[in-house]
Amino acid sequence: MKIAVLPGDGIGKEIIAETLKVLGRLGLKFEFEEAPVGGAGYEASGHPLPQKTLALAKQADAILFGSVGDPKYDNLESSRRPEQAILGLRKELALFANLRPAQDYEELADASSLRPEVVAGLDILIVRELTGDIYFGEPKGIRQHATGGREGFDTMRYTEAEIRRIARVAFEAARKRGKKVCSVDKANVLETSRLWREIVTQESKQFGDIELSHMYVDNCAMQLVRNPKQFDVIVTGNLFGDILSDEASMLTGSIGMLPSASLDANNKGLYEPIHGSAPDIAGKGVANPLATILSAALMLRHSLNQGAAAQRLERAVKQTLRDGYRTADIYTAGTRKVSTAEMAKAVAERL
Ligand code: IPM
Ligand code: MG
Repeated sequence: MKIAVLPGDGIGKEIIAETLKVLGRLGLKFEFEEAPVGGAGYEASGHPLPQKTLALAKQADAILFGSVGDPKYDNLESSRRPEQAILGLRKELALFANLRPAQDYEELADASSLRPEVVAGLDILIVRELTGDIYFGEPKGIRQHATGGREGFDTMRYTEAEIRRIARVAFEAARKRGKKVCSVDKANVLETSRLWREIVTQESKQFGDIELSHMYVDNCAMQLVRNPKQFDVIVTGNLFGDILSDEASMLTGSIGMLPSASLDANNKGLYEPIHGSAPDIAGKGVANPLATILSAALMLRHSLNQGAAAQRLERAVKQTLRDGYRTADIYTAGTRKVSTAEMAKAVAERL
């Protein structure tokens, strides 16, 4: 099992290093090969996604990704910014299906900013389309405008085929869970969303056992904090999914807890925490490594066919929380505050 390891920037380096130690304790044969990406890629070769890094990602069985971004690159032209690395990987490897599960750990109910009874037992899966939408739609740019100043513009667009394949991923996922899909759009305003809704509805005819509902994205943002347990699978486009998944992460107590899988049509995937590089805490050893460790569990399950090992890892994380270990982001009175390395060590010991 060859894993491309791309730590990236900021806390990415720490959380990936600790996750590799934990993976090393599973007793499986991994071949890890590391390469620079994001700001680190730019430093190494002048481009956030160096050719060698992309080639490694293409030939590996799976990709374990940390995080990219640093304010010191804010003034670079868009194509050189660290974020282009992850966007480029998603596009080049056709990783169109982004799975972002948000599950409540009862041990962390106090860490959520919502009342414990609102989030207790929560189990949502956000299926975010990842290679289309306003993220990639052309034309985009900044140009001179007739009225004098400049204008910035991006293009939201989805083809029927893109909508159909992500809808299918959502329906199939729902089949293995609570059998409900809520499709989120802005069909009261956007043409792209009108087509989205039409195609998702068409596609649902082939999944008679799944209950489909539709919701506008603004309402969904509100419902996620009002009554999040009404949701099972949420399927949505790239931009709305980006925003809603950050929101959903706080239901679980911390954005430091949410893993993600980005899959192509053959379940090859890139695995990353949904949080960013957190430059403000980078290098201090306080970042929460659990989102990355849980992303590694998704990697074992979805790309490496190691479902049992994935479960062992997830159980070890649960047990670690039960035993009271907390990084700063999930710390509450009466628990034990630990560093990034101590948290990972505690998980490894419980394996
Ligand atoms: C995410 C991130 C990325 C995105 C950034 C880093 C480009 O926010 O994975 O959610 O917007 O998709
Ligand atoms: Mg995001």
